[in-house]
Amino acid sequence: MLRRPRRNRRSSVIRDMVRENSVSVHDLIYPLFLLEGKNKKIEINSMPGVFRYSEDLLLKEIGECMSLGIKAFVLFPVVEDSYKDKNASKCIDPDFFYLKSLAKVKSEFPEALIMTDVALDPYSSDGHDGLVDENGVILNDETVELLGKMSVLQAEAGVDIIGPSDMMDGRIEFIRDRLDDRGYEDVSIMSYTAKYASAFYGPFRDALDSAPKAGDKKTYQMDPANTHEAIVEAELDYLEGADILMVKPALSYLDVIQSLSQQFDIPIAAYNVSGEYSMVKAAAQKGWLDGDSIAEEILLSMKRAGANIILTYFAKEFASRKQ
Ligand code: PBG
Repeated sequence: MLRRPRRNRRSSVIRDMVRENSVSVHDLIYPLFLLEGKNKKIEINSMPGVFRYSEDLLLKEIGECMSLGIKAFVLFPVVEDSYKDKNASKCIDPDFFYLKSLAKVKSEFPEALIMTDVALDPYSSDGHDGLVDENGVILNDETVELLGKMSVLQAEAGVDIIGPSDMMDGRIEFIRDRLDDRGYEDVSIMSYTAKYASAFYGPFRDALDSAPKAGDKKTYQMDPANTHEAIVEAELDYLEGADILMVKPALSYLDVIQSLSQQFDIPIAAYNVSGEYSMVKAAAQKGWLDGDSIAEEILLSMKRAGANIILTYFAKEFASRKQ
């Protein structure tokens, strides 16, 4: 036998040498949920170990994560029902607590990379990512106008990366234009490029209380059956000026990550979404699997598929284990 592949697995030294992929804390973006008020830290029922924080405690949490080596965060606002309306008005209210907190985070941690989500669902009484007309139709171009304003306000607050997650057509070019017009040409856009209409977002919608009040998101988020369509979305986002292309969810869409990473020469991000986190946590709590090992294997699979960046709720635990 001339070829014995086992020789390259003989010891940990040789395994370390021939390893093709690895996950580093530098690859990770940690999603955090922000509440209005003071001294609040509320666990999300369906996501053990994930909390919603008021600004004071969020700053503490970010400080802890920074000392563990996590330098990138995506911040989501938890918006009280009384603030939600059909026009998602609070998303462009410069006095809204979320924008104020973003500015505060950037002033306390100028070296942290802060990303935001651009879509209407946390602010909308309809729970949709876009404006909804009287017939239940999601309005594309009217929504894009609003997303442009929202992005400029977030850029003004000092964020580093704008993350349009709404799946409206033409939004990347529109947002890029608006940002450049206002002098924010250094603010990046990470486009939620191939965002599927997925049941894996359930726990996130619990966290924000943002599930659609009527209908579903299938007229704007992608059909889980499609991959060619992801290429069309990626071509558009690339041409419209996206800096990074994201695939979401990640675990059931590794093929999509792989095909985008092979066909595009800009960085690819994978969003290891809430449902993917909760499944692992639930099984680990029951003692059915080793949650830490599973999490590492899952993150590694995303890197192997070609993701350069992973947004993951496992980030803090991962970083703590590497200390
Ligand atoms: C908002 C948004 C969603 C997620 C990120 N941004 C939910 C949705 O589209 O319904 C999901 C994230 C997760 O499940 O972890 N548009």
